[in-house]
Amino acid sequence: MYKILVSDGLQENAINELIKLGFSVTDEHYDKVILGEKLKEFDALVIRSATKVTKEVLEKASGGKLKLIIRAGVGIDNIDIYSAHEQGITVKNTPNASSDSVAELALAHMFAVARFIGTSNYTMRNGEWNKKKYEGIEISGKTLGIIGMGRIGKSLANKATALGMNVIYNDVFGKQDDVKYEFLELNDLLRKSDFISLHVPYDKENGTLIRKEELNLMKDGAYIINCARGKVVDEEALLEALDSGKIAGAGIDVFEVEPNTNEILVNHPRVSCTPHIGASTMEAQDRIGEEVVSVIKDFFTKL
Ligand code: MLT
Repeated sequence: MYKILVSDGLQENAINELIKLGFSVTDEHYDKVILGEKLKEFDALVIRSATKVTKEVLEKASGGKLKLIIRAGVGIDNIDIYSAHEQGITVKNTPNASSDSVAELALAHMFAVARFIGTSNYTMRNGEWNKKKYEGIEISGKTLGIIGMGRIGKSLANKATALGMNVIYNDVFGKQDDVKYEFLELNDLLRKSDFISLHVPYDKENGTLIRKEELNLMKDGAYIINCARGKVVDEEALLEALDSGKIAGAGIDVFEVEPNTNEILVNHPRVSCTPHIGASTMEAQDRIGEEVVSVIKDFFTKL
């Protein structure tokens, strides 16, 4: 019987389905100090973002039974892929499951910053009635620059188009034949967009994508949305740009350090923030569970 360790939780249905299929499932989060040693007895590990599968953890697990690591989500930045591959461990994620949820959250942040939704909530609860202060803008008719035209970027592009936005995009893989929107080089996209939404992983080799230089290229009064990874945007440069008014608002779901420690940023009146909840919908979590089951089933059937 193959043994699966579910380290950061998983939908109950998915756990039951795995048990029905004959897998032994342990739903427990081990501290990083003992995780590696514990992993020796498991054939597969399922994680979300809390468990960090580092080189050290994998070294301790080496010589054990571990053959498969599944990231129940999109980003695999909490797994040392190189070390895993060196040990012949397969790494998979669930790339299809949460695209609509993340795209909807990006849109929610766009509305929030365009219409001061978060700040109004906060100030009204403090007894303020700032009707005059909160004159916003419509997103309809505005240009949305999407950086990263993968599944999430495409989902957002369709939704934004339906709302009357003009979509342009940039992608590290260049222009895509199946994408009908206008492709622009990064700097041109930054200059032309009223809203920028980021849907790219953090690139360890090239570092932060949106720094002071890139923010300076953006239109005066543009908005930026980051539901990708915190390190994709330089938080200090963003704060400066928000303070100067260069950037009119930022919607942020992901932070350089998580849980967030940048109090000044999240308290900025022009910031709409959420605690990394892009994939936190019932629908996405159900689909993630289904995708995890299907990956495990396929993998062990082929062994
Ligand atoms: C993902 O990579 O799937 C999302 O950022 C959600 C998460 O990490 O929890």
